[in-house]
Amino acid sequence: MLEVEGAPKLDVVKIRKDFPILKRRVHGKKLVYLDNAATTQKPQQVVDAVCQYYTNQNSNIHRSVHELAEEATEAFEASRDKIQRFVNARSREEIVFTKNATEALNLVARSTLEKFVKPGDRVVVTEMEHHSNFVPWQQLAKRKGVKFEIVSVSDDGEVDESDLETKLRGAKILAFTHMSNVLGGITDAKRLTKLGQDHGALVVIDGAQSAPHLPINVQDIGCDFFAFSAHKMLGPTGVGCLYGRRELLEEMPPFLFGGDMIRDVQREETTWNDLPWKFEAGTSNIAGVIGFGAAIDYLADLGMQNVAYDERQLTKVALEELSKVKDIVIYGPRDPRKRGAVISFNVGKIHAHDVASILDSEGVAIRSGHHCAQLMMQKLDVPSTSRASFYLYNSTDDVEALCNALRKVEEVLS
Ligand SMILES: Cc1ncc(COP(=O)(O)O)c(C=O)c1O
Repeated sequence: MLEVEGAPKLDVVKIRKDFPILKRRVHGKKLVYLDNAATTQKPQQVVDAVCQYYTNQNSNIHRSVHELAEEATEAFEASRDKIQRFVNARSREEIVFTKNATEALNLVARSTLEKFVKPGDRVVVTEMEHHSNFVPWQQLAKRKGVKFEIVSVSDDGEVDESDLETKLRGAKILAFTHMSNVLGGITDAKRLTKLGQDHGALVVIDGAQSAPHLPINVQDIGCDFFAFSAHKMLGPTGVGCLYGRRELLEEMPPFLFGGDMIRDVQREETTWNDLPWKFEAGTSNIAGVIGFGAAIDYLADLGMQNVAYDERQLTKVALEELSKVKDIVIYGPRDPRKRGAVISFNVGKIHAHDVASILDSEGVAIRSGHHCAQLMMQKLDVPSTSRASFYLYNSTDDVEALCNALRKVEEVLS
């Protein structure tokens, strides 16, 4: 039994009871789920909230006056209030529901480039971005004749600030990840935001990996936009969220057109609904948003400070134990205070997919591949990595199971 330093803040045994899937067996072995950076498991409370909507309230929102529609609208909009509090936005109008973080980032890229950026201006991203915070900027910049700049990062994911300062000259947008999905490194979001804004850029943060694991305070960070996905933080798939500063959202053109986002449609012209609905065209993923609200309740009850504290302790143990595995190369910062619980590694010359397959046969679910961050793979000079990522229901038992399964990899392949 591995020890963590200091008393844990959360009761993992109790938490695990809320996640029915964790009782599953895979290939006859106990499931050890360590693919949380891809998506997290859902507590019964979230499953129940989705089920309750379909069982008792199923109805479209905003448009009808009947009782079911009112109840559904109320539950849907209550999730917005919960998320507003969760990220400490100034008002509920600053919380826009999307289908995932990718769509939230596409929304910002499309609308800000249209409104605030001229041909010849610069858009700046870093080379560790997930493709979702890279390709939209790259492609839309090309369409508009905007310069697309990529800032270097170290192998540990630290942004090269002198390169950043150079590239920020004349930049209208700075977009960066709060936590790398490959290296686990946490960026100093507040500092980079200030740097970007001091140069006159709007700052967009990809919080897909940070919002599930760290307390988020968008007002304290000071960013202009912050995107995240429900499914990576105990919620359903098909729901994402964009926080945007109200004055900017007011000025920005809609991203998608259709029902719900209009105020008045005439033959020649259309006017837009109020925020945040101006950006929520068509029928939303109502059940998903309600489930997201239940996930936020669950996380808020545990306390994000506690979640972050326990994950840091677990990451420390995981890094120590993994480093004992023969021929392992671990990527990302070694200091658990500088990183989240996403640990990428390779074992000797064994292909990451082979590692993941053997681990799967032992019941251990991890991810292998380029993790939608091909530029970062080039930087690390590897085609792929294996990636184990932890969440609040993981314990040192799971670290032990991972390391034992990795020893099996050596046995099988030697
Ligand atoms: C850092 C980061 N950004 C963005 C995304 C995209 O999230 P989604 O697929 O939910 O849109 C991911 C997903 O893995 C991610 O890790």
